[in-house]
Amino acid sequence: MRVSRIKKQFKEKEEAELNVDLDLLNPIIQKYKNKKGNLIPILQQTQSVFGYIPADAFSKISLETGLNLSDMYGVATFYSQFRLKPVGKHIVKICHGTACHVQNATAISTALEETLKINDGETTKDGLFTLESVACLGCCSLAPVLMIGDETYGKLTPKSASKIIKDIRRKENN
Ligand code: FES
Repeated sequence: MRVSRIKKQFKEKEEAELNVDLDLLNPIIQKYKNKKGNLIPILQQTQSVFGYIPADAFSKISLETGLNLSDMYGVATFYSQFRLKPVGKHIVKICHGTACHVQNATAISTALEETLKINDGETTKDGLFTLESVACLGCCSLAPVLMIGDETYGKLTPKSASKIIKDIRRKENN
């Protein structure tokens, strides 16, 4: 009951629109099929293939490895490293650790939410950006900080943060 409800919740329309090639899971399933303690590595590698863990991937993995579906959802929803929804091409991680919080990271988040017209944790309709609040990114002296891919941007103001996003969008649209 609980599993079907959670599954339904995450199988949102955006996923239905995506073509998920479940065959990509075969090597992962083969690698971990009869091993103990395989749940987290399977979920991590599934996410690295799709960028998130599609609902259909849970079903296939459960069917072919015998892993309990409820356990899989339990772990995937417990750990923040796992995503159950598709993400944008650029994941914008806004640091809300202590140093950044003190330097008004909230204003950076608000500015980017306005620029992208989405809330924290959401993805833009064009699939380009996902906004994500995270804990300390490890470069507190540059607070407030955000990270996009491997690139770190520090000493931000709401205006400079918005400009970074607009520049990326302009490049993407050219
Ligand atoms: S608190 Fe933001 S980088 Fe450390």
